[in-house]
Amino acid sequence: MSNFVMEVEGLTKQVSGNKKIVQDASFQMKRGEILGLLGPNGAGKTTTIRMIVGLIKKTEGKVYINGNDIDTEGKSCKSDIGAIVENPSFYDHMSGYKNLQQYARMSINERITQERMNEVIELVKLTHAINDKVKKYSLGMKQRLGVAQAILHKPALLILDEPTNGLDPKGIRELRDYLRQLANQGISTLVSSHLLSEMQLMCDRVVIMENGNIIDETNIAALNENGSSDKLVVALNLDKAGIEGAEAVIESIEGVTTLKRENDHQLLIEMTHDLIPQMNRKLVQADVNVYGIESKKTSLEDKFLALTSEDKELQKEGK
Ligand SMILES: Nc1ncnc2c1ncn2[C@@H]1O[C@H](COP(=O)(O)OP(=O)(O)OP(=O)(O)O)[C@@H](O)[C@H]1O
Ligand SMILES: [Mg+2]
Repeated sequence: MSNFVMEVEGLTKQVSGNKKIVQDASFQMKRGEILGLLGPNGAGKTTTIRMIVGLIKKTEGKVYINGNDIDTEGKSCKSDIGAIVENPSFYDHMSGYKNLQQYARMSINERITQERMNEVIELVKLTHAINDKVKKYSLGMKQRLGVAQAILHKPALLILDEPTNGLDPKGIRELRDYLRQLANQGISTLVSSHLLSEMQLMCDRVVIMENGNIIDETNIAALNENGSSDKLVVALNLDKAGIEGAEAVIESIEGVTTLKRENDHQLLIEMTHDLIPQMNRKLVQADVNVYGIESKKTSLEDKFLALTSEDKELQKEGK
């Protein structure tokens, strides 16, 4: 069996006028991984997803699900995927439960047991409302019912296009939680978004798309992990008297640079995480009063903005 739940190779979509709206996109997904497809509006995220799930034809490229080629083994690939690409439609006058039952009867070949129904309902936290009519559901509840529907047949891979759209912060958090639960059960999720901060919280890894191309891949775990070799911005809280002393200490440590005096009691410093204790020790030895050291995570946002042309446009305009 392939090590990857999904491999996408050279995926390309050409539309009229020879325009390629997705060009040579390649990425892989590991089992139990939550992978983000991040890009600004029009980047080609939905087009990529629609090609993977077979809603539109790909112009070129290969997609393998659990090692199976979707072109030649479409049926087995399909049973390995659960997806919400367009908003799922429900029968409003029926309960959530009846909707799930109906979906299971119409769209899934195998019989879905009562036990599996309850398991999925619990996972998406709809137990309390599952017998209510769907017309009474909030957007977030409908979305959870959609996810329940998509995972009923125990797919290895769940694909969600912009699942946080329209959700409130609580809903987003809950989505994050149950995607993580699914991941712990070995189910991988591909999730698209144009919101970096969300992706940073939700995903293990992110591929960044712009103008139909994949332009970067970032391991979020490494980005968030403190042992990362990436430089961090650290805010050092001092008193007025300490500021100059602190600057002198910081200059003496290799790999630590003062970025700026934020105000007369805070310095912003660029450094790797592992140098924080050394800096702290030296500051104490130099009798500098340290009121706080706050390490700010390397933000995916910085990386994303540096990569996408939106930011370049802003720079051009001198903003
Ligand atoms: N059938 C088509 N013919 C021509 N152009 C298309 C077609 N479908 C999509 N596009 C264009 O391709 C680009 C990528 O669209 P896509 O919907 O994949 O982007 P997206 O990353 O999902 O954006 P969003 O964040 O807005 O959902 C857009 O500029 C879109 O207008
Ligand atoms: Mg889209």
